[in-house]
Amino acid sequence: MYLTRLRLHDFRCFSTADIEPNPSINVITGDNASGKTTLLEAIYFLGRGQSFRQSGPRPAIRAGTNAFTVTGDIAVPDGRSHRVGVSRDKRGIRYRRDGDNETNRIDLINTLPLQMVDPNVHRLLEQGPRYRRHFLDWGVFHVEHAFFPAWRRFRRALKQRNRALKSRMPKADIVVWDAELVRAAEVVDASRRAYIDHLHANLPGQAAKLLGDEPVVLEYDCGWRGDDGYGAALAASLDQDTRAGFTQQGPHRADLRISIATAVARDWVSRGQQKILTTAMLLTQAQLLYARRHVRPVLLIDDMAAELGARYRQVLAEEIAALGGQCFLTFLEPDLVPDVLKGGSMFHVEHGAVRTG
Ligand SMILES: Nc1ncnc2c1ncn2[C@@H]1O[C@H](COP(=O)(O)OP(=O)(O)O)[C@@H](O)[C@H]1O
Ligand SMILES: [Mg+2]
Repeated sequence: MYLTRLRLHDFRCFSTADIEPNPSINVITGDNASGKTTLLEAIYFLGRGQSFRQSGPRPAIRAGTNAFTVTGDIAVPDGRSHRVGVSRDKRGIRYRRDGDNETNRIDLINTLPLQMVDPNVHRLLEQGPRYRRHFLDWGVFHVEHAFFPAWRRFRRALKQRNRALKSRMPKADIVVWDAELVRAAEVVDASRRAYIDHLHANLPGQAAKLLGDEPVVLEYDCGWRGDDGYGAALAASLDQDTRAGFTQQGPHRADLRISIATAVARDWVSRGQQKILTTAMLLTQAQLLYARRHVRPVLLIDDMAAELGARYRQVLAEEIAALGGQCFLTFLEPDLVPDVLKGGSMFHVEHGAVRTG
């Protein structure tokens, strides 16, 4: 699936923009603060229903106006197309697919699977487990279909249990949620493990081209301690949970540590190598989604050249081109664009206007 048209209205520096992307490679160039990242952010809203910038959706409304709208036309493999939209005003955010106002974020995620490599992608290695869980669960969500319903059931039961813990209810009112938590957690955990096995099997090939011979090791932490299952872990931590006022162990605390051979990746690699490693992981996910579900996610790669020398830029560009899906890449300077990425469409942004060229 790929975007055939993208329209923005009062989105950050754009009062309006209307582009017809190429089904494969789209290169966006422009000076600092011209609106390159903003174009990727608009596409990201269509596929994820939220921003990747940490400030949230409200600041994306163009200064001096009251609402933004982003609309995308998406061609799907069976020849049909969908129109998806995200708009945000004072009252909140709204999603639409094919005119349906009941659309939710999950509908968008299913309609336009997309993966993003932004200049902060090394957070995956450096920061807490939240980013890695997010990275992991994006893949699990798209590939292992049992995952999401179980995850939703888990979240619901967890909320109830935490409410009981917080309001210091009797133990019987807390443990009443445990059976449901355990049932859901087992499915979530099994889905994650199955996905990581696939990731593990596919990563070496992908990473080898990008990282040389350094073997990448993925270590999964399911989020609870002990070998007797989640039920036993919940029982063992009940007193601690009661004191803390929330459920401290479970799949909501899972992690996927990424390392290279014996060193923790964040200690071993330079910024540029970290970027290559994390990008290799994201590209592997994209490949895996195609291999397992015949879906090619749209790739967004912001400031591809940042922190990379000419050789890495070249290898990465070749990998991206070889993936074969739709991709949007931004560059500060046209000179930085590797030749292999020049076969698609080129866009240039300047003062909130997009020029096709
Ligand atoms: N809500 C907003 N209203 C108007 N302009 C905005 C808003 N948010 C950001 N901008 C401006 O949009 C411009 C584009 O930013 P960005 O897409 O990050 O540029 P680039 O990635 O090309 O460096 C910046 O000049 C920024 O000040
Ligand atoms: Mg930018």
